This record gives sequence, structure tokens and C-alpha cells, in this order.
Amino acid sequence: MKTFTVSLSLITLLLITTTAVFFSSDQAWSDEDGDRSVFWDLSSLKRPGVAPVSNDLYQQECGSCHMAYPPGLLPGASWRNMMETLDNHFGENAELAESTRTELLSYLLKNAAEVSDYRRSQKITRSLAEGEIVDRITSVPYFIRKHDEIPRRFVVDNPKVGSFSQCNACHQNAAKGSFNEDEVSIPGVGYWHD
Ligand code: HEC
Ligand code: HEC
Repeated sequence: MKTFTVSLSLITLLLITTTAVFFSSDQAWSDEDGDRSVFWDLSSLKRPGVAPVSNDLYQQECGSCHMAYPPGLLPGASWRNMMETLDNHFGENAELAESTRTELLSYLLKNAAEVSDYRRSQKITRSLAEGEIVDRITSVPYFIRKHDEIPRRFVVDNPKVGSFSQCNACHQNAAKGSFNEDEVSIPGVGYWHD
């Protein structure tokens, strides 16, 4: 009788252990980036994507030549540098009246990647080395890692895209702050996944 009880509890223990191992290693538990995460990883509860633009003045002033980039795509230090050199903005003059400039800078800093609770913004921040300041989104290590296998003919040599800066050419819901890879459609190519 005693042996029976012992083996029964042993079997139960084995069952519990295998169940636990099964769940914690379950391949299905990966987030939208395909990054493996275990089921108790609280990051999966964070808001996906980046916060969409919520400032009309910003939308108007910074959305005329390209999409108005959500502030959560770059850290504050990068925005600060950019807003101080608008007279030579990637070869263009994007200067603003001083009052507009300071208002937009304050909007950008309040919503920059490192203060955002959106998951994509946090990945951008984490991918940068301590003290590293990039001058553009497309130079962020996280961005580079996500796009390094896309052939040039789909981007620079594709007249409907032109450059990686045109996020919304491929990411259908970029303006909503969603960059999920399932919502990508490259013009002339369609859905693409490496
Ligand atoms: C006169 C046109 C013009 C205006 C206005 C303008 N930009 Fe740009 N912006 C550009 C060009 C051109 C590039 C470079 C695009 C490329 O390399 O293909 C660029 C690039 C950028 C990038 C880098 C994108 C990347 O490749 O990572 C950011 C961020 C950016 N702009 C933010 C802003 C902000 C913020 C404002 C408003 C203060 C603004 N832009 C206003 C023309 C403009
Ligand atoms: C030429 C089309 C194209 C452009 C332009 C582009 N992307 Fe992408 N992006 C892709 C593709 C394709 C993937 C999926 C890559 C893969 O499957 O590995 C992707 C993946 C991503 C991811 C990761 C998505 C995920 O679910 O893991 C993010 C974030 C992202 N892009 C942001 C941006 C931002 C921000 C810009 C603009 C500065 C941009 N992309 C411009 C095509 C593009």
C-alpha cells in the first residue's frame, strides 16, 4: 500500500513537471516580433506597436514631405538633435518658427521612445548602446535588424518606395503606429517575409 502511494505521488509529480516544462517552452509563446518569450513574461501584456501621432501641429508641419513619424520611433536625444538642425534636415530646409519648433520638440520629448510604454518603442530603446545617439530611425539597430534581408530592388530601386524612410509605403498601418510584419505589403511585391 505504501509503495503504491509513493509511486502515485511520483507519477503526479512527473505530470506536473512535464506540464510546466511543456508550457514554458511552448513555441507558440512568441510575441509579434517572433522573439521567444515564456508565458509569464509580462512584456507580452504591454501595448504593441508605437503610439500613433496625437498632435495636429506636428502632423501638419512634419507630415508634408514624408509620413509624420510617431515620436516613439526615436529616443529624445535624437529628436533634440534633429530639431536643432532643421535648416539642414537631410539636405532639405525644414526650418520652423521658434515657437512652433519648441512646441513640437516638447511634444516629441514627452512621447519619445524611452518614455513610452509601447513595446516597439521599448525595443528601439533597448537596441541602442548606452549613450548611442542615432540621427534617424533607419539607423536604429532594431530597425536594421528587422530590414537587413529585404533586397534593394524592393526599396531603393523600387520607384513606389524610394527609401526605407517611407515606412507607410510598405507598412499599411504605419500611421496607426502598427508595424506588425503580417500587415506589410511591399508595392509591386506584396506580402514579404524573410
Ligand atoms: C521639406 C521637407 C521635409 C520636412 C518639412 C520635414 N522633413 Fe523629415 N525628412 C525629409 C527628407 C528628405 C528626409 C530623408 C528621407 C530619405 O532619406 O529618404 C527626412 C527624414 C526624416 C527622418 C528620418 C527618417 C529615417 O530615414 O529614419 C525623420 C525622423 C524626420 N525626417 C522627421 C521630421 C520631423 C520631426 C519634421 C518636422 C519638424 C520633418 N521631418 C519635416 C524632408 C522633410
Ligand atoms: C520596403 C518596404 C519597407 C519599408 C519602407 C519599411 N519597412 Fe519595416 N518591414 C518591412 C518588412 C518586409 C518587414 C518584415 C521583415 C521580416 O519578415 O523579417 C518589416 C518589419 C518591420 C518591423 C518589425 C515587425 C515585426 O512584426 O517584427 C518594424 C518595427 C518595422 N518594420 C518598422 C519600420 C519603420 C519604422 C519604417 C520606416 C522608418 C519601416 N519599417 C520601413 C518592410 C518595410
